[in-house]
Amino acid sequence: MAPTSSPNPSAPATPASPAVPAEVAAPYGSAIPATAARVRTHHLQAAKANGQKFAMLTAYDQYTAQIFDEAGIEVLLVGDSASNNVLGNETSLPITLDEMIIFSRAVTKGTKRALVVADLPFGSYEQSPEQAIASSVRLMKEGLVHAVKMEGGAYYAPTVRALTQAGIPVMAHIGFTPQSEHMLGGYRVQGRGEAAAGMVEDAVALVDAGAFAVLMEMVPAATAVAVEEAVSVPTIGIGAGNSTTGQVLVWQDMAGLRTGKMAKFVKQYAEMRTILSDAAKAYGDEVRTGTFPGPEHTF
Ligand code: KIV
Repeated sequence: MAPTSSPNPSAPATPASPAVPAEVAAPYGSAIPATAARVRTHHLQAAKANGQKFAMLTAYDQYTAQIFDEAGIEVLLVGDSASNNVLGNETSLPITLDEMIIFSRAVTKGTKRALVVADLPFGSYEQSPEQAIASSVRLMKEGLVHAVKMEGGAYYAPTVRALTQAGIPVMAHIGFTPQSEHMLGGYRVQGRGEAAAGMVEDAVALVDAGAFAVLMEMVPAATAVAVEEAVSVPTIGIGAGNSTTGQVLVWQDMAGLRTGKMAKFVKQYAEMRTILSDAAKAYGDEVRTGTFPGPEHTF
């Protein structure tokens, strides 16, 4: 699903997919019609079937959502990483469902085309499938998202089944699962060596239960290949090599808003921190010297 030429520059077209019927009039020969109102889970499935790739980024507010949507990013994730990246917490654990709903609504309102997926935050789904359904319904009704993402392996297959039967699309998240960082002993690569087979089993169980995609975080490339080959749905990687159908990054890492030591899997595509800092310094200087506001900014 790498963008090709499109009649509408704000809605990049995608390569041909005879497998997916057009949702709206002219498909322009695309897996995701340039005129389509929304990227759907079946478009991601078609990408895998056709050997195409798609991109996913986190977003937590309306402007970044709008920018990434217009840039043709197919999936936006309202990650519980908002806890670390927006709310200033050390981990993703403290963020609440109420806070996730606020970020989700802002992101969804900012998009026209991207599929918006929200994380079920720590504490909002572990107790029972019923709790997971209640939390997901709030994310969809109040946060307006199109799907939820849930961390955890085969143990959560019954929860995935209950959610999908309730009409809630679920993206599974395996490998390093940040909500379990205290159980996992910190940020560590998962699924090495003999643990690879267990990761494949987790993925298969979650997909059998109805997950429409499997996200893998910090797993060896060979393990990611084994998972991608074992499941029929698209996989999405973050620190999982290049074999997955999709890739995801946290936007502040991708755009260079956050500084400091980055994970090995991060590639920085811009220097937003420098750009913002320079703008703030220039503004501050102009205010202090009386250059701003000028006559053109004055009523
Ligand atoms: O919350 C998040 O940003 C995530 C990504 C790391 C995949 O789950």
